[in-house]
Amino acid sequence: MKILAIETTCDETAAAIIGDDLTIYASVVASQEALHEQYNGVVPEIAARAHVERILPVIQETVQKSGLSLIDDIDAIAVANTPGLAGSLLVGVTAAKSLALCLQKPLVAINHLHAHVYACRLDAGRDVFPCVGMIVSGGHTHLYHYTDALSPKYLGGTIDDAAGEAFDKVASMLGLPYPGGPAVSKIAINGDSAAHRYPRSFIREDRLDFSFSGLKTAVRYSITGPGNIALDSVDLDDSQKADIAASFQQAVVDCLVAKAIQAVSKTASNRICVGGGVAANRVFRKQLEQACEEKGIEIFIAPLKYCTDNAVMGAIALEKLKAGLVEDLSVDILPGLVRA
Ligand code: KG4
Ligand code: ZN
Repeated sequence: MKILAIETTCDETAAAIIGDDLTIYASVVASQEALHEQYNGVVPEIAARAHVERILPVIQETVQKSGLSLIDDIDAIAVANTPGLAGSLLVGVTAAKSLALCLQKPLVAINHLHAHVYACRLDAGRDVFPCVGMIVSGGHTHLYHYTDALSPKYLGGTIDDAAGEAFDKVASMLGLPYPGGPAVSKIAINGDSAAHRYPRSFIREDRLDFSFSGLKTAVRYSITGPGNIALDSVDLDDSQKADIAASFQQAVVDCLVAKAIQAVSKTASNRICVGGGVAANRVFRKQLEQACEEKGIEIFIAPLKYCTDNAVMGAIALEKLKAGLVEDLSVDILPGLVRA
């Protein structure tokens, strides 16, 4: 069995062909980073238009690279229909419905968040469920308990910004490019993570939630002082920027690691799977791995190349297909988070 998976939830136009033994026949990601960089974040209207221009060439390139025939070799079309930007989701879902109709193939809907967690399964070589699943991305920071890949129970998440969003905003405050995560973590290497004592919301509380907006404000004040001074009127040298970046990164990592461990113990699990763009952060990966080792928790983190948005993680659709969970052409986009 082989599927064509399509991903257009935010600002990457992606397609992949994956087999039910998790062989990846082809994967193409057309990044829109260059289009959004000047705005320091994703502009939904620009993202949707770029998806329209790119979706067919991306699908075509994926099929060509795979050496397979869309008509003869592909058993189903899968597409992420939730959560994400409405305009972006519509492009992928419309393309997938059109292909399913023309080719008379089954259509499978993918939840983008659970696909991020499923990315851990790709290199694992065996089942990674049941587990606690953590999604840390630009739009989401959530914890779920999965009895299997398709049965998530929402445990908690951010009450304001996502971890990746905080990285992006702090990068912008420090005059670093978008996306901010890789830029902040790069300069943090030369910084002192204890230089600034930033807040770690809820860290000692018995709740599986996150809040990063206070941290963002604390970083701003450490740049400008408590007054209402414009950020661009302050000139920081490289070592000051590195200290802020390292201290900020450590505050985020401390919160993520603490809540991941709490979630595992609250659910009496012994395994955690982590996916999403922020899971590419090396300090986070290392410190979570260390904490899990100390507690005897088995950990899977998505392979680096499948942390940020891609269509290979759409392999979760193969599980749905096997379970007979297919859609008809009335399937719609669900831009908001569904906590299940
Ligand atoms: O999963 P993703 O590609 O898109 C969403 O579904 O949101 O995640 C993108 C986010 C961005 O906020 C980016 O700054 C962050 O992941 N990110 C990182 C790193 N690489 C990407 N954050 C921290 N450290 C990184 N190395
Ligand atoms: Zn994502």
